Amino acid sequence: MTKKYPEPTMGPRERAFLVGVELRGQENLLALDDSLSELALLSETAGLQVVGNAQQKLDHPHSQTYIGSGKVEEVQALVEELQADVVIFDDELSPRHLRELEKVFKNDVRILDRTALILDIFAQHAATREGALQVELAQYEYRLPRLTRAWTHLARQAGGGGGRAGGVGGVGLRGPGETQLEVDRRDIRRRISYLKADLEKVRTHRQQYRARRKRSQIPIIALVGYTNAGKSTLLNYLASADVYVADQLFATLDPTTRRVELPGGNQALFTDTVGFIQKLPTALVAAFRATLEEIAEADLLLHIVDITHPNSQAQAQAVYQTLEEIEADHVPIITVLNKIDLLTDPEKARQSVEKFPNATAISALTGIGIQDLLKLINDQLYESLKQIVVRLPYQEGGLIATFHNFGQVERIEQTHQGVLIQGRIPGRFLARYKPFIIK
Ligand code: GTP
Repeated sequence: MTKKYPEPTMGPRERAFLVGVELRGQENLLALDDSLSELALLSETAGLQVVGNAQQKLDHPHSQTYIGSGKVEEVQALVEELQADVVIFDDELSPRHLRELEKVFKNDVRILDRTALILDIFAQHAATREGALQVELAQYEYRLPRLTRAWTHLARQAGGGGGRAGGVGGVGLRGPGETQLEVDRRDIRRRISYLKADLEKVRTHRQQYRARRKRSQIPIIALVGYTNAGKSTLLNYLASADVYVADQLFATLDPTTRRVELPGGNQALFTDTVGFIQKLPTALVAAFRATLEEIAEADLLLHIVDITHPNSQAQAQAVYQTLEEIEADHVPIITVLNKIDLLTDPEKARQSVEKFPNATAISALTGIGIQDLLKLINDQLYESLKQIVVRLPYQEGGLIATFHNFGQVERIEQTHQGVLIQGRIPGRFLARYKPFIIK
């Protein structure tokens, strides 16, 4: 099936043609049409103009060109007719597929995939030094095995306009018998080690900051959610903070933390995190591990879901998957169904609340339901006590003391492996005890 889009009304932008494949037997969170709509939104966020798409159902990818040869011809004809500059595949292409496709398509048509596109958007939106370093590292690691064409093509894309890519492009001195491609690869490897070393330095700094924040004993609440769900809008509303809000994918790349007073005068730190998406590139998750670790260390997660989105359930699944991948699935979650101001039928909000565990409905834009949300958070963190049985190793003296100071100890026993405590503890400490819980 192919689809053409209406002619542009805006100035010249690069024209993108999208290609989606459904592999039989493979489980996908989104139907192909929906995944392609998402890819179109990603393309627009990256500044491209989408001019059409093609789809194919396959048992397995074609060994050379990912899509079958007939489909390749069809796409070629459409690319010519629609004057597309870029062809974007909805799945990550292997180095071999990319190489073969570049051979088949004319030299002035670029081949990209979803991963390269997401990396590009991240590069455009990285606001802090750590964010920029992480994205650049992910970009080079993704490109190294895929380097085929001229260096200029790579240098143009790298570094998200921060000018850092120039640092690599400038080296290029050829050793005896080396091809330009080998020189380029060597330069990228050098750049990767440099970026890793630089990141290490930035991280030491961040760890010190994190340790300070932890000592302050104020519970940390991380906002997580599918991209565009409304995390920044909620943080803005809560803290009247000036966090960047835009109707774009991945407007927020670097975590921003705000202190908020809960009903009853208790404090909590709310931190905004990067938006998730289905098929989040593995290179990116790896590069952002340190940032994502902050989510795993939070005391509570607010999972923001755009309840007006037709795929809200699948988007929530993608978030759970990523949480599992970054080992943050042990942190307690409140599901926050957002954008209810757009629902014409208020009954729908109530029904949705029942579909998710521990959920509440709000509008981050107008403020509906936010007081109830804050009460729920306060209750979860400060009021309600959770029954647990933990075995705490003797070196965890801090946790043993916290149980005595803030919880209610019902039974305590010294064992070889540590102190066994049965009792009740305020919700805000639960995440810290999770690794030691035996019941
Ligand atoms: P990423 O940065 O991609 O992770 O997005 P985000 O989750 O931080 O979303 P953001 O707060 O940037 O909001 C995305 C869009 O949704 C913006 O256009 C917001 O104005 C809009 N939005 C957020 N909350 C609401 C809401 O409660 N109601 C309505 N109508 N729009 C909302």
